[in-house]
Amino acid sequence: MSDAPASWSKLTDDLERVLYTREQIQTRVNELGAMIAADYANRSPMVIGILKGAVMFFADLTRAIPASISIDFIATSSYGSNDVTSGVVRILKDLDRPIDDRHVLLVEDIVDSGLTLSYLVRMLRARHPASIRIAALLDKPSRRKTPLQADYIGFSIDDLFVVGYGLDFDQRYRNLPMIGVLKPACYQKLGGEES
Ligand code: PRP
Repeated sequence: MSDAPASWSKLTDDLERVLYTREQIQTRVNELGAMIAADYANRSPMVIGILKGAVMFFADLTRAIPASISIDFIATSSYGSNDVTSGVVRILKDLDRPIDDRHVLLVEDIVDSGLTLSYLVRMLRARHPASIRIAALLDKPSRRKTPLQADYIGFSIDDLFVVGYGLDFDQRYRNLPMIGVLKPACYQKLGGEES
């Protein structure tokens, strides 16, 4: 049976273009997994997925690390618009286990302003882990509001409105297997047209 790509057209019609295909993402994720496995040789890191955006990357990345790891999740919500400058992040779900003396690898879908990760790193450092590193599938360095450098980066991109592979607009498009640039008409209210 064919894979029938037309079946995705209800979502892909909203894309201006595909930025990374499922295959390109998988190739890069496998490379990152191999790098991480080599760097953490003889250590058993605690790999922490930051919900919800990182869920696809996390699932593929952890399966590309042929080593002993443990996993946990933390759920955050973007600061409301008034909190952007403070960078305060709401923790919707905390870790299940302590991380003291553990080697922590935070897995994030995208670093944009850097506020979410810089807040999380500060918060988790106070719990005395042995180390903290960051793996981010996408990096938008031009958007940074605070200095933040991920240790493992899948792709560095321009300031584009991207969706798919975990990334959403209004909670939609997360299940797209590829990463694409959303058509402006899909997120802008156009005068005189229905949105
Ligand atoms: C998104 C993304 C990162 C954060 C990046 O999360 O998943 O966590 O924003 O932005 P920053 O670098 O400007 O802080 P969001 O709060 O939208 O939640 P989600 O993961 O559930 O989509």
